[in-house]
Amino acid sequence: MQRRKFLSQLGSGMTALFGGAVIAPLIRDRQLLGHTSSLGKAIGKTTTVPVGGSATFSAPMPSKGISTPVGGIVLQPSKGVFKAYSSACTHQGCPVSYAKKSKQFLCPCHGSVFSATGAVVSGVAQLPLPAFKVTVSKGMIYVR
Ligand code: FES
Repeated sequence: MQRRKFLSQLGSGMTALFGGAVIAPLIRDRQLLGHTSSLGKAIGKTTTVPVGGSATFSAPMPSKGISTPVGGIVLQPSKGVFKAYSSACTHQGCPVSYAKKSKQFLCPCHGSVFSATGAVVSGVAQLPLPAFKVTVSKGMIYVR
């Protein structure tokens, strides 16, 4: 075997061996995303939600009577604590956004404002944002 060919095959083998060890968990996490188990629907890794910040996810919430297939917003108000709410405004269903600075959900359509717990603060909305039940397991966030 020529030296160049040997080194090439050795490199491929090492890549398969060690690259697989690194890539396998990433693939497994990707496969988990959107997967529904007894814990709920996997929406993302805990590391994707900054402490004090938010991240969005897609997940219909039919059990709460929200007919639009909007997703939600997951918050990490303090380290290791995760809360998730429907991002559909309870007035007419416009998607709300989370303002980190004021710690409020804001609706762009008619100005309703919700607290970080989903409660109505002001505006025309009468009902709070429905909350998802959140479970964290092995660094993955699940909602239902
Ligand atoms: S849809 Fe949000 S305030 Fe009207």
